[in-house]
Amino acid sequence: MYAALNPTAPTTASFDPASDHAATRIVHADQQPQALVSARNVSKLYATATGVNWALDDVSLDIAPGEFVCAIGASGCGKTTLLNMLAGFVAPSQGTLSFNNAPLRAAGPDRGVVFQEYALFPWLTARRNVEFGLRLNGMDRKARRLEAERLLELVGLARAADSYPFELSGGMRQRIAVARALATKPKLLLMDEPFAAIDALTRTMLQEELIKLWKELGISVFFITHNIEEAVFLGQRVVVMSAHPGCIKEIVKVDLPYPRHREDPQFGRYYAHISEAFAHHA
Ligand SMILES: Nc1ncnc2c1ncn2[C@@H]1O[C@H](COP(=O)(O)OP(=O)(O)O)[C@@H](O)[C@H]1O
Ligand SMILES: [Mg+2]
Repeated sequence: MYAALNPTAPTTASFDPASDHAATRIVHADQQPQALVSARNVSKLYATATGVNWALDDVSLDIAPGEFVCAIGASGCGKTTLLNMLAGFVAPSQGTLSFNNAPLRAAGPDRGVVFQEYALFPWLTARRNVEFGLRLNGMDRKARRLEAERLLELVGLARAADSYPFELSGGMRQRIAVARALATKPKLLLMDEPFAAIDALTRTMLQEELIKLWKELGISVFFITHNIEEAVFLGQRVVVMSAHPGCIKEIVKVDLPYPRHREDPQFGRYYAHISEAFAHHA
């Protein structure tokens, strides 16, 4: 029904990892549960000195409450533009966005964002960085302090509360950024290549922690990466994007239980399938 109303709504290719023949079954988007956030036929045009650039062209995507969706694609395919739209930082040139069944027009506390760069205030301690979001919410000082401690504990950093960002490792800084993004109790956590600059061992740990946190909080996550393994490890669905113009080529449902294991042959088959789709469309 939904697909009939939205003829351009993306389809989800449900890849069957048990089959060596890579049988790809197409499942229509009407089988997605009720959306928390929805982008409908969204395009974004940037006019620059050198001409116009369709950063995104006719993208439709729903994220269900509690769902973990990864987006993967080469640099310049519009991943950040899409995330900025879902955050409410950037308005589409065409198409519509909705959040909780209401038009999405601006940023709000119901959406938390974690950027690739450590977007922390260098002059504030870990605790004060987290408190910053709570202050915006109008929480009083004592409550802020307690809540910041709870959030730092949640990301395993209670002991680093009084450290400044420059005193902490990249992984610790990103944990603080996650704690700060969670301060406003968002329903949707938007993460733009948050672990890209982090060493491989720490990155694996952060991925495991993120899955635990996501399960515990029951929130939705939209996670951008250009690492296929990361996408298969984390996402319930993986959105494969391509550039010029930026669009969705395929949405792969990753039907594996958590915690996932990289050495699992089914994991390897999803990896191979996405890498093929990625190479084909990039
Ligand atoms: N503010 C902007 N002004 C002009 N062009 C932009 C702007 N932001 C992004 N772009 C262009 O839009 C395209 C998509 O960018 P982006 O969303 O950052 O892609 P990704 O995150 O996948 O690398 C790129 O070609 C980029 O150069
Ligand atoms: Mg980007």
